[in-house]
Amino acid sequence: MIRLITFEGGDGTGKTTQVRALEEYLQQQQRPCLVTREPGGTAPGKLIRKVLLEVGDNEVASSTELFLYLADRSQHVHETILPAINAGKIVLCDRFTDSTLAYQGYGRGIDLKWLRQLNDAASGSVRPDLTFLLDCPVDIGLARTVRRQAEAVNGRVREDRFEREKIEFHEKVRAGFLELAQNEPLRFRVIDAAKPVEVTAVEIRRIIDKELVA
Ligand code: TMP
Repeated sequence: MIRLITFEGGDGTGKTTQVRALEEYLQQQQRPCLVTREPGGTAPGKLIRKVLLEVGDNEVASSTELFLYLADRSQHVHETILPAINAGKIVLCDRFTDSTLAYQGYGRGIDLKWLRQLNDAASGSVRPDLTFLLDCPVDIGLARTVRRQAEAVNGRVREDRFEREKIEFHEKVRAGFLELAQNEPLRFRVIDAAKPVEVTAVEIRRIIDKELVA
């Protein structure tokens, strides 16, 4: 049974748009669902998100960053995800445990085995039933992010910490996500996110139709 669907991928791959499109699709089918995200899916999580994304370069150690993401997740699972699942909803989550493996593990070089243990501790071993990995070349994703922010802040481009990271870092994250998907083909669906938004949305709906019937 599908209860938790996660959307993963690098920055600017269009996860948030696709989560909203799927929410609309499920609502049309009268399927109760809840959209949420990490970091920032709860009130304490919003404060954590602010710290994580706004502090300057080199101001937080990799381990501090990691524990902040885990603290956000722990609160999020207990306050938002589990209650929604228990109420019979399908939870659509924009980033979850795989982001920690891809960014802190493959990106920052923190031991993957240890990260899996920490992910389990923070999530109470809640695991996604289905994960869409939105994949596109790093330069396309980053260009989209800069464009989106320029639109959001009246033409002034404001980048957050992760977007200031070197291309190399984002390449490692992308390769990491693809490796995670390859290792768990039953859970992951890799979606070509370089295609137009509507084409990607149709592909996701097609997969959902199959999975929800199965
Ligand atoms: P978002 O803007 O796509 O929600 O993502 C916020 C940033 O946080 C994004 O660059 C990825 C990063 N991130 C991690 O590094 N580790 C994590 O565990 C999560 C959930 C996000």
